[in-house]
Amino acid sequence: MSQNQQTGPLRHYLQFRDFTKEETLYLFERTKLIKDKFKRYEPYRPLHDRNLAMVFEKASTRTRVSFEAGMYQLGGSVIHLTTGDSQLGRSEPIEDTARVISRMVDLVMIRTFEQTRIERFASHSRVPVINGLTNEYHPCQILADIFTFIEHRGSIEGRTVAWIGDANNMSYTWLQAAEMLGFTLHVSTPKGYELDPARIGQPSVKVLRQFSDPLEACKGAHLVTTDVWTSMGYEDENEARRKAFADWCVDAEMMAAADPSALFMHCLPAHRGEEVTAEVIDGPQSVVWDEAENRMHVQKALMEFLLLGHL
Ligand code: CP
Ligand code: NVA
Repeated sequence: MSQNQQTGPLRHYLQFRDFTKEETLYLFERTKLIKDKFKRYEPYRPLHDRNLAMVFEKASTRTRVSFEAGMYQLGGSVIHLTTGDSQLGRSEPIEDTARVISRMVDLVMIRTFEQTRIERFASHSRVPVINGLTNEYHPCQILADIFTFIEHRGSIEGRTVAWIGDANNMSYTWLQAAEMLGFTLHVSTPKGYELDPARIGQPSVKVLRQFSDPLEACKGAHLVTTDVWTSMGYEDENEARRKAFADWCVDAEMMAAADPSALFMHCLPAHRGEEVTAEVIDGPQSVVWDEAENRMHVQKALMEFLLLGHL
């Protein structure tokens, strides 16, 4: 098939809820199959000759390596762009960039600032666009986190996930996942850093419960998860956040309050001694390395689905 040719209607993955529950569960099925092949050293190259452009407007280790390695494993190739080494850094409109890049490649992954920026790109793209993190969402990470949970503990439906720390891109994506997949999200943030009511609407208590005390939020949770206190792009707030978040460090006491089977996750990069103690992130309940590896496997399933549909 020629480059740039779509087999079905153009789909993007800009937020978790862009796919239906059925499609998301299908991705997890494909992820398992694709991961099993990888572990058996069995070549699987359905994206032979396909090309992924990755545009990074913020730093990355995992997202870059997982997309790049994953695309090569699927038989395709990758072009890596950053703001600094492309015309994006010299004010070329994002719409023009989208029109040009999407005439030459089959798929685009973008890590950028505002969600509206990736939406503007997608609306001028001829090919599927994947969100590799924006200020508002990080859907590929939550796919990996939930796949990791399923691998270790089975279905996430009916379980409780405790989010401790900042109401950031990760937490808003967890909330979309809870609404879709039928689990309960406990969120504890410092005062002044809560989820924005205008963004979340009024989720039922089966979906979202908010706690001022992080220990209360961990009670009975099947997964305890956190993230940096200061996300990329908010570095000016670093000092104020260090003070405000001091009690939102996931420690052994919080893990002890959770369900005895509880896992610990962190999307990484982590700061031991800030949002999590070394004892927890390096301890027996932590699955952060599986979680990081699974970024690659879920994204291979995602790229396969966006380019080839249901197989
Ligand atoms: N978790 C994650 O997205 O990591 P990177 O910032 O290293 O890509
Ligand atoms: N919330 C973090 C996630 C990094 C992968 C950030 O946006 O910087």
